[in-house]
Amino acid sequence: MTIGMTKIGVIGAGQMGCGIAHVSALAGYDVTLYDLSQERIEAALATINGNLARQVVGGKITEEDRKAALSKIKGSAAMGDLAPMDLVIEAATENEAVKRKIYAELCPILNPAAILATNTSSLSITRLASATDRPERFMGIHFMNPVPVMKLVELVRGIATQEDTFAAARAFVTSLDKVVTVAEDFPAFIVNRILLPMINEAIYTLYEGVGTVEAIDTAMKLGANHPMGPLQLADFIGLDTCLSIMQVLHDGLADSKYRPCPLLVKYVEAGWLGRKAGRGFYDYRGEVPLPTR
Ligand SMILES: NC(=O)c1ccc[n+]([C@@H]2O[C@H](COP(=O)([O-])OP(=O)(O)OC[C@H]3O[C@@H](n4cnc5c(N)ncnc54)[C@H](O)[C@@H]3O)[C@@H](O)[C@H]2O)c1
Repeated sequence: MTIGMTKIGVIGAGQMGCGIAHVSALAGYDVTLYDLSQERIEAALATINGNLARQVVGGKITEEDRKAALSKIKGSAAMGDLAPMDLVIEAATENEAVKRKIYAELCPILNPAAILATNTSSLSITRLASATDRPERFMGIHFMNPVPVMKLVELVRGIATQEDTFAAARAFVTSLDKVVTVAEDFPAFIVNRILLPMINEAIYTLYEGVGTVEAIDTAMKLGANHPMGPLQLADFIGLDTCLSIMQVLHDGLADSKYRPCPLLVKYVEAGWLGRKAGRGFYDYRGEVPLPTR
């Protein structure tokens, strides 16, 4: 744990929020995981327990670690429970209006000394900071998915972020046994600036009939040595998140090369959001994922 920070709040108990709560609790922090409904919180705690149990089976942690970590996570559907936190990491849906609404509700009740961070994949840190009462104690702490597995965390300063805020965030991330890389506040930072156009191009390749889902993923796994095909990865990230990142790149960099593929738009409109929805480029409802095209 880092000196002076013991209580970590996480907003949004989705894929990323669960992962951030998981690794923070394992590192000994007291975590409050907030989402809109009790139902969502209960599902999240069950997911975290399942993921911890998998780490026990894999020999990465002990049964005692699992129990200790679970006991450190408190779920809450009441934002007031975040008031005494030292650091709050917002990992809600990738939508600026949603995030702004959360900050408007949170800032008046949050400990004035607390640091507020966002796990956004693409939105401007400076612009999000301006929607808070503490731009100097606001920054991007961008974890990768799945958080317990992925080593990297991108740290992103807004224009007003103070150096002590950055230093505290770096110390926190290092205490989780993660590796920090620093990105400037440009749309989608480093990893997604490079990764998402590749995924979008894979979706164009499918859209234009160059290959099937299986052909495209096999080609990139065996032909480019990627551990996972780009369409499988898109499903894993969430197609709504992928679309949102492409829109941020397109709007923010005003270059047509970032135009989201119409097929990606259509899948999101259909609610086929990938693994979390049971269907995306693969159908996850059976025993094994089946390509849909
Ligand atoms: N999926 C990825 O691979 C990935 C990787 C890095 C960063 N991110 C970023 O992390 C954030 C979350 O992504 P995710 O994949 O976990 O999404 P998700 O859809 O799995 O989860 C989002 C969660 O936010 C909750 N939420 C929505 N509005 C809320 C509100 N007003 N208050 C509290 N909770 C609210 C939803 O109920 C849901 O549980 C996004 O900003 C995304 O860009 C995602």
